Amino acid sequence: MTIIVTGGAGFIGSNFIFHMLNKYPDYRIICLDCLTYAGSLSTLEPVMDNPNFRFVKESITDRAAVEKLFEEEHPDMVVNFAAESHVDRSIENPQVFLDTNIIGTSVLMDACRKYGIKRYHQVSTDEVYGDLPLDRPDMFFTETTPIHTSSPYSSSKAGADLLVLAYHRTYGLPVTISRCSNNYGPYHFPEKLIPLMIINALHDKPLPVYGEGLNVRDWLYVEDHCKAIDLVIHNGRVGEVYNIGGHNEMKNIDIVKLICKELGKPESLITYVTDRKGHDMRYAIDPTKIHNELGWLPETMFTDGIKKTIKWYLDNEAWWEPIVSGEYQNYYEKMYANR
Ligand code: NAD
Ligand code: TYD
Repeated sequence: MTIIVTGGAGFIGSNFIFHMLNKYPDYRIICLDCLTYAGSLSTLEPVMDNPNFRFVKESITDRAAVEKLFEEEHPDMVVNFAAESHVDRSIENPQVFLDTNIIGTSVLMDACRKYGIKRYHQVSTDEVYGDLPLDRPDMFFTETTPIHTSSPYSSSKAGADLLVLAYHRTYGLPVTISRCSNNYGPYHFPEKLIPLMIINALHDKPLPVYGEGLNVRDWLYVEDHCKAIDLVIHNGRVGEVYNIGGHNEMKNIDIVKLICKELGKPESLITYVTDRKGHDMRYAIDPTKIHNELGWLPETMFTDGIKKTIKWYLDNEAWWEPIVSGEYQNYYEKMYANR
């Protein structure tokens, strides 16, 4: 089995590659990643010498490069993690989100059509469903919830999902889509809520909570997401969408307070800043379908997962220090200085 994993130098893709090489020692895994600000070869260091692993630095938007790779490797599957993934960046500059998330997806699927594939899997997000009101805790996203996006990021992911389903219906491409809730865990880029708060707290810097911090996200430990995708690509039904989430809803402010507590830092570091434009209030996944059809259940509870994650950041400063001391400083200044 040969699998091309795109975006594998990023947060979830790298965790997926570790999971696959560990669980299927005879699979060949090729990581296709152009190494944007969010991708790093240092993340893939643990597998670089594995003879069943190959890294290729190209963009999924580069048709010639993608076709060359298909001709060289004859993949059985493509799992597409490659994306621009940060909502705040999409508000500043939507264009690259459309290029990578939509055009890149079509380039990959065109190659799948041209050379043949057993499965094309699109890694999508619960954000395509828009948001839920805070006062309706009985409401959840199911696979039939209408697409109703809020940000350029979620719109670009929704555009890609629609294209994936269209390639299935029009050309018979054997596709699956998974839509997961917010992930957390090792190798999470420090611009996102949990690693940003851990690293700021470690430096005794202000912890910038958007609005009142009452927005709710449904957090899933990244390994549980990887295991779910593994099940979908092997046993999921072609043409189907699978929601992934662990019924673990938390308010942002409660997460930030928990991080302060775990690190022994004062809550006085918390600073309320101007809210994100169009900020989604609540995400909550109903994972009944993947549970009933594929037997998936989350294994890591948030109380354990957040401890493991904080410990990972404490133990792996060598991974995140070069990130936060580089170009990231300009990003941080631009996004947070006068907020
Ligand atoms: P990330 O930003 O950490 O990593 C993205 C990776 O894609 C990076 O390695 C980057 O270099 C690569 N990339 C970007 N543009 C590329 C291009 N044109 N060609 C090749 N590679 C490119 O993202 P992540 O958090 O790991 O998310 C991975 C996927 O999972 C995304 O599709 C995202 O929409 C989806 N997702 C993320 C979450 C989450 O909580 N992080 C939740 C649900 C779904
Ligand atoms: P984020 O990690 O960007 O994920 P997403 O927007 O895709 O859910 O943000 C998670 C939540 O945390 C979201 O409600 C925005 C909020 N947030 C802050 O309050 N402060 C921050 O500095 C960041 C990055 C996010």
